[in-house]
Formats: sequence, C-alpha cells, structure tokens
Amino acid sequence: MLIGREVHFFQEVDSTNDVAKRLAGLSREGTVVVAVTQTGGKGRIGHRWSSPTGGLWMSVVLWPTIPPESLPLLTLVAGTAVAVSISRLGLDARTKWPNDVVVDGKKVAGILAETGFDGRAVVLGIGVNTNLETKLLPRAFRRRATSLKEELRREVSNHELMRSILRKLDHDYARLQQGSVDGLLQEWRRLSLTIGRRVEVVAAGSVVKGVARDIQDDGSLVVETSYGRVQLARAGECRMVA
Ligand code: BTN
Repeated sequence: MLIGREVHFFQEVDSTNDVAKRLAGLSREGTVVVAVTQTGGKGRIGHRWSSPTGGLWMSVVLWPTIPPESLPLLTLVAGTAVAVSISRLGLDARTKWPNDVVVDGKKVAGILAETGFDGRAVVLGIGVNTNLETKLLPRAFRRRATSLKEELRREVSNHELMRSILRKLDHDYARLQQGSVDGLLQEWRRLSLTIGRRVEVVAAGSVVKGVARDIQDDGSLVVETSYGRVQLARAGECRMVA
C-alpha cells in the first residue's frame, strides 16, 4: 500500500492541502495529512470550505506520472473512492462531475486537487461532512449540504471511513498509473448523478448548456447541446438544471 503508509495527524491547521504542499518535497508519495479542524479550509474556484470538528479533512501527496492532460482523472478517482466508501455505510452515494459526492441530492463531500512542489506533485484534498450538523455551516451552503450523521442518524468512525477511502484510492491510483483507465471511468459512470442530466457548466466566463452524455478518457464532460452538437467541458462549476 502506497497511500497512507505515512499519516500526519493535526488538531488544527490552516488547510491540510497547504500542509501537504509544504510536506510534498520532504515526504514519500502517498503521505496523508489529516486534521480535526481547518481554519482556512479551501474549496474549488477560490471558495472557502467550512471545516468544523467532526468532519473528515485530509490530503494525500501524490507524484503522478500520467500525462498532464489526464490529471483531472485524479479528482474523479478520489470521488469514486469516497462514494464507494460511503455506500458501504448503507447510503446511496453518487458522484457529481467534477468533484462532488452527493447523498440524497445534497453535497456530502468534495475533492480539491492542487499541484505542489513546482507543479510536480499533486495534492488531493478530500473533505467529507461526517459527524457534523449542517445547521452549523454558513447559510449559503446549508440547503445544498448534508452530513453522514444526518443521513444515517448515527455517528460514523472518521478513522474507519478514512481507511476505507485510502485503501480504495490506493488500489485505483495504481490502476491509473498503469494506464488502466477504462474500468475506473466505468465505475465513475456507474455512480454518476450527472450523466443523462441536463446541466449548465460555467467555466472561465463561458457557459455550456445541454445534456451530459459521458465523460472522456481525460475526465472531460461530454455535453450534447440543444442542436445535437457536442461540446466538451474540461473543468468548471456544473449545475444540474432538471
Ligand atoms: C470543493 O468541493 O469545493 C472541494 C472541497 C475540498 C475540501 C477539502 S478538506 C481537506 C482539504 N483541505 C482543504 O483546504 N480543502 C480540502
């Protein structure tokens, strides 16, 4: 097992992604940083990520050798690991392109991949709302967020969930590094809430509207627009509109 051989636990950090980036050059591949709380938790596209006590906040240091254009697949693979691990608790967890895990239509986890160490390392940040009350989250997020505790009506073990996610991630990362992408994409599609849905993807000021049909080998979303044309979205904020 590569991922999780070395785990650094902290009570409080600014962001586990930032700690992992600082550690990247000093630690071996697969090193994990976990914190009980984050004072400056980061979400995608410059958003803040609320990280109170009770959640699972962790980051993994990776040195991928896959082509740079395939790096978005790391986010999908991490999403699958989280969704599969949550499903094992008895919930219907789904992946939502590009980086969310959703239960009951509400976001329960998010992934933030960042590069570190001169762009050579990738830090994969994983945040799961495990044992927290969504009423404690900022008002703007509450309506669209849930937690495992609220869905299951019991507490879950952060440690067990972390082990399950890291084991699955370790397995799938090895497959990705070997170039076996098909099975990984297939599993993501099977768990996906996005495929087949009408979506709006906003990226760099442009909007792609249509029906999400598939994902490509590099993780791009294939969107069929209203005139039967196909457009690819490589990144962005994806809203399901129906
Ligand atoms: C998102 O959905 O916008 C991504 C959220 C990622 C949150 C995790 S929590 C652990 C790691 N450290 C951070 O600062 N962010 C990620």
